[in-house]
Amino acid sequence: MTTVAIPYHSGYGHTEVLAQKVAEGVRDAGQTAVLLKIESASQDFAPFIEEITKADAVIFGAPTYMGDVSGVFKVFADATAGVFFSGAWKDKLAAGFTNSHSFAGDKGHALASLTILAAQHGMNWINLGLAPPNVTAAERGPDALNRVGSFLGVAAQSDNASPEVTPPAGDRETARLLGERVAKAAVRWAAGASAAA
Ligand SMILES: Cc1cc2nc3c(=O)[nH]c(=O)nc-3n(C[C@H](O)[C@H](O)[C@H](O)COP(=O)(O)O)c2cc1C
Repeated sequence: MTTVAIPYHSGYGHTEVLAQKVAEGVRDAGQTAVLLKIESASQDFAPFIEEITKADAVIFGAPTYMGDVSGVFKVFADATAGVFFSGAWKDKLAAGFTNSHSFAGDKGHALASLTILAAQHGMNWINLGLAPPNVTAAERGPDALNRVGSFLGVAAQSDNASPEVTPPAGDRETARLLGERVAKAAVRWAAGASAAA
């Protein structure tokens, strides 16, 4: 059994919906999901860093605020600098998800930030692996997978409404599929590591 840690921030609950679906995908693959909700910039991140160090893979999640990961998530990212020096996360698998109001909304930049965070730790990035839908009104609707057409990770779009109704079903399923993909990759990665040993 492998473990996938999911550290995430969500100011208003929409990115949290995705985190829950990512965890569901990990469990659907028969693996263990550890949700780590970042509540504030002033919390003690040491227990989260410990959980991530124990995990086989990490799926980072943050809303896009002002074209990048939220400030609270960035404080968490900066708090992992000690791990950068020890190299404790090197060779783990990593992936990411974000969510914003606009269809573009500069979500790609937030995903790039998550990718760079993983790269600085020497982790191996797992991309989304889902083709974007055809750009026709019939096919890009709320049930479409990878609705806004992202490659690096999940880029969900939420309306100005309650997290109970947005992001829509297609974005939720996209998040679940990322969790499943990363968990299956973690199983292969762990099996390869023990074969090599
Ligand atoms: C401070 C702030 C900055 C935001 N910046 C962006 C942005 O750059 N692009 C965008 O599309 N939406 C932006 N939004 C909208 C949020 O991304 C959107 O409401 C999202 O669903 C919030 O996710 P959350 O509920 O997990 O916090 C911003 C919202 C806030 C509060």
